[in-house]
Amino acid sequence: MVHAPATVTVTGAAGQIGYALLFRIASGQLLGPDTPVKLRLLEIPQAVKAAEGTAMELDDCAFPLLSGIDITDDAGRAFDGVNVALLVGARPRSKGMERGDLLEANGGIFGPQGAAINAGAADDVRVLVVGNPANTNALIAQAHAPDVPADRFTAMTRLDHNRALSQLAAKTGASVADISKLTIWGNHSATQYPDLFHAEIAGTKVTETLDISPGGKDQAWLADEFIPTVAKRGAAIIEARGASSAASAANAAIDHVHDWVHGTPQGEWTSAAIVSDGSYGVPEGLVSSFPVVARNGRWEVVQGLDVNEFSRARIDASVRELVEERDAVKDLGLI
Ligand code: NAD
Ligand code: LMR
Repeated sequence: MVHAPATVTVTGAAGQIGYALLFRIASGQLLGPDTPVKLRLLEIPQAVKAAEGTAMELDDCAFPLLSGIDITDDAGRAFDGVNVALLVGARPRSKGMERGDLLEANGGIFGPQGAAINAGAADDVRVLVVGNPANTNALIAQAHAPDVPADRFTAMTRLDHNRALSQLAAKTGASVADISKLTIWGNHSATQYPDLFHAEIAGTKVTETLDISPGGKDQAWLADEFIPTVAKRGAAIIEARGASSAASAANAAIDHVHDWVHGTPQGEWTSAAIVSDGSYGVPEGLVSSFPVVARNGRWEVVQGLDVNEFSRARIDASVRELVEERDAVKDLGLI
């Protein structure tokens, strides 16, 4: 059954991630082969012309599911009737810049966009914030949208999740397709905690293959290689490419929204930064990454996992950073 067209708004549409994302959305990879898509591209005035160029290319692909493209520099227009909002537009971190430096530069963007979503979005709107600092930008947007259920605001840690899958596959020789139940906790930053203690490879716990327990022979690999490699991968890509990750970020955004709408596979979970309900001691209201499943179009935190001392300390450290970011944007009057 072919559905009515969904309106998908992409901010920062003329940027690197935008370029890697829009063609995949238009081809049906975001919402599936039965949902035509109307694209709304939001850019700053100086970049509208470049977005028009991308739109010309989208036209030239003759995607059967693409039922229209609007380009605007007006947030009110961009989010009017929106079903899926991908908030990508922000200033990317450049070499040597810390994410904290971005709070002020980018925080101002997300308040007005949250307000525009509040004013005009469709009842079923789903928001994914990609632009950094993603968790706190999502918090700002959500704080400006009091009429939209808070659980519609999310931030992206799926790229971190995918990076962790790939690193674990490389270490163990397993296929990424066989790995499940891995978790990214906390902030999309260098403090994030990629947790392997519940992960499984083809149904067998990773802890049976790798001795990552305290004092175990693989604990140094976990603490000194795996965790920092995943957590600092964004910086490593910037160092290598001279620009932040784009195609992999777009791919993760597709994965996040696709799972949110269509559900996560039975018996598996993924990672997403969602508004905390207080689970696992994460203060209510913070946008923090959790182990999640998507059921009936909603994210649910996977409950009841044992959190050992090693994990607890790292989750707490990342959550502390989120609290500091929240306090900083509060002081700046952004929430
Ligand atoms: P980019 O500089 O190539 O593109 C950003 C675009 O956003 C530009 O075209 C710019 O004109 C636009 N923009 C700026 N302010 C805007 C506004 N107020 N409204 C609409 N558009 C606006 O950057 P990029 O490489 O596409 O990265 C975008 C963001 O994504 C950055 O913040 C980056 O750090 C972040 N990122 C996040 C993840 C993640 O995993 N969460 C991964 C990679 C990158
Ligand atoms: C990434 O994880 O690739 C980005 O968030 C990089 C960054 O920190 O800007």
